[in-house]
Amino acid sequence: MNRLERWCRLRLSKHPRLRALASEVRRRVMPSRWGALASQHWDDRVGDVEAGRQRGWLDWPLVEEEHIRLQISGDPQVYYLQYFFDQHVEERPVGRILSLGCGGGNLERALVEIGVAQRVDGFDVSPESIRLANQLASEAGLGDRLHYEVVDIDQIELPTGAYDVVIAKMALHHLENLEHIYQQVQACLKPGGVLMINEFVGPSRFQWTDLQLQLMNEVLQVLPEKARKAAPFLRVLRPELEDMITLDPSESVRSAEVIPVLEQYFEIIDFKPYGGTLLHILLSHVMPGFDLEDEKDLSILRLMFLYERTLIEHEVLPSDFAFLVARPRTDSA
Ligand SMILES: C[S@@+](CC[C@H](N)C(=O)[O-])C[C@H]1O[C@@H](n2cnc3c(N)ncnc32)[C@H](O)[C@@H]1O
Repeated sequence: MNRLERWCRLRLSKHPRLRALASEVRRRVMPSRWGALASQHWDDRVGDVEAGRQRGWLDWPLVEEEHIRLQISGDPQVYYLQYFFDQHVEERPVGRILSLGCGGGNLERALVEIGVAQRVDGFDVSPESIRLANQLASEAGLGDRLHYEVVDIDQIELPTGAYDVVIAKMALHHLENLEHIYQQVQACLKPGGVLMINEFVGPSRFQWTDLQLQLMNEVLQVLPEKARKAAPFLRVLRPELEDMITLDPSESVRSAEVIPVLEQYFEIIDFKPYGGTLLHILLSHVMPGFDLEDEKDLSILRLMFLYERTLIEHEVLPSDFAFLVARPRTDSA
């Protein structure tokens, strides 16, 4: 982003009327899609994401092993991908996999590196992500088995019957044209092929529910001071819609509909909700304030995991993240 763009974004973030005007211009220029703006957002970030400098709640090994894996595979040693291939894919290596919203390409490289896939196609709207994915693939000597391409998935046209597996990891919640995408994925799968999703499926545009906000803030208030101080806020608030659109217009644009729309086209054969309803926002900010060598801090974190799991298990809260596997419905329109 150049200085002028930075200045414009700063002004926009401070002035509601300017924000509304920018939003209206976007709506008129690009009705119903945000691909170009999402591409700019991810162009700016992919380097940090690939280098591990940007850390969300899922990037902490403790959270991954003791909270997420426990809910997906049931075993802290078994990562969701291993669980997926072990449980749902017989043929190994898989002939051809498609990855939607591949970012800088670490998932696709891993699939080829560990011998799970013969060939992976990764599509993303961000040219910088695709440039980096190609660079890292050729540095790893895997360029001939990884095909990355700049594609706006909201407009995607896929070859019929071409893929054994389609993967969407943290990408569908950035997409607007879910009906079109699911139809395309349905048709691009070979007979017996499956779609695997690992996604944020919580409130669209992060419009947290009142209960969710209340519980997040109650937890925040009882955390040790050093953890609370690591967060750049005193309370979690529901973001303004306009601010969400200004920061990243694709962020959770229809996230709450990812599963309901999927069910029109696919039958879900494995569903593992894994929470995040409270911990996504809290842990993404307070984790640096915990000492992961300190048993007391670890106990508090484990209590937070248990608290969220219990509330979801007893249906007090829904789960904002889910891993699932689905196969095309034969009776869909
Ligand atoms: C949260 S990142 C996930 C990246 C990667 N799957 C991962 O898990 O590291 C979301 C990705 O979706 C991409 N994206 C957003 N809107 C898109 C669109 N319309 N078409 C293709 N990719 C899109 C972004 O560029 C970004 O790389």
